Amino acid sequence: MSGRPILATRGLVKRFGGVAAVDGVDLDVAAGEIRCLIGPNGAGKSTLFKCLTHQHQPTSGHVLFEGRDLQGLATHHIARLGIAIKNQIPSVYANLDARENIRIAALRRRLAKRELDRVVDLVLAEIGFDSRLASQPAVTLSHAHRQWCELGMLLASDPRLALLDEPTSGMTREEMLRTVDIIKRLNTRATVIVVEHDLEFIARLAQRVTVLHRGKVLVEDTMDKIEANETVRDIYLGRKKETIHAER
Ligand SMILES: Nc1ncnc2c1ncn2[C@@H]1O[C@H](COP(=O)(O)OP(=O)(O)OP(=O)(O)O)[C@@H](O)[C@H]1O
Ligand SMILES: [Mg+2]
Repeated sequence: MSGRPILATRGLVKRFGGVAAVDGVDLDVAAGEIRCLIGPNGAGKSTLFKCLTHQHQPTSGHVLFEGRDLQGLATHHIARLGIAIKNQIPSVYANLDARENIRIAALRRRLAKRELDRVVDLVLAEIGFDSRLASQPAVTLSHAHRQWCELGMLLASDPRLALLDEPTSGMTREEMLRTVDIIKRLNTRATVIVVEHDLEFIARLAQRVTVLHRGKVLVEDTMDKIEANETVRDIYLGRKKETIHAER
């Protein structure tokens, strides 16, 4: 890894009863990086994310953000430090429109009103929402638009580290490609860790890929090397060989 780590975990463990969903993870992510986290269903990806934000309390081990141990901090405190998460199940305020959702997310920055309005307009443009989409209750938006609305909320909160759990699930290829652009824009301002199953998405975005298997880091490398790794193919990609060589 090159560059200063913004996030490090050391010996991170999360047990649910007898199951170690996260089982001794040491992760280092450099400031400015886009890291992809992959692994089969149940590998522990979402649990790892929730341990970083203390939506789950780790059973043991440490999470260091910009060198600071997060032990004992509440989720809202971690958010204030600059870690934002988009969970696997999208969560927007269903009865509010996209503009209001994004405005609420921007409020944490305590901007003056004019600056707040400017940020909200900028973010709406970044996620490609015109005034009609911006003023629709979020509950009436398509699945993809709801995902983009949540990405907009994340952009508006101006995090230093963004954790995105399956941001393209349920999207068409065209929608996935638009999401790649939004995340690249996010990455000009924030370090990004993204959990995804879509290999084309990963190849277009990630510099390094970490493979999680049964709660442990199996391998970490560039996407090309990951695709060629026999063990990874067997445990994860094997079922999807046809998509590995899909045209990029
Ligand atoms: N709240 C919970 N209580 C008990 N077990 C849990 C809980 N959350 C996750 N698990 C278990 O932990 C393991 C890891 O789950 P996790 O959701 O982190 O996997 P994942 O890699 O995100 O999978 P997917 O790709 O399907 O989203 C699984 O065995 C799951 O059943
Ligand atoms: Mg998950």
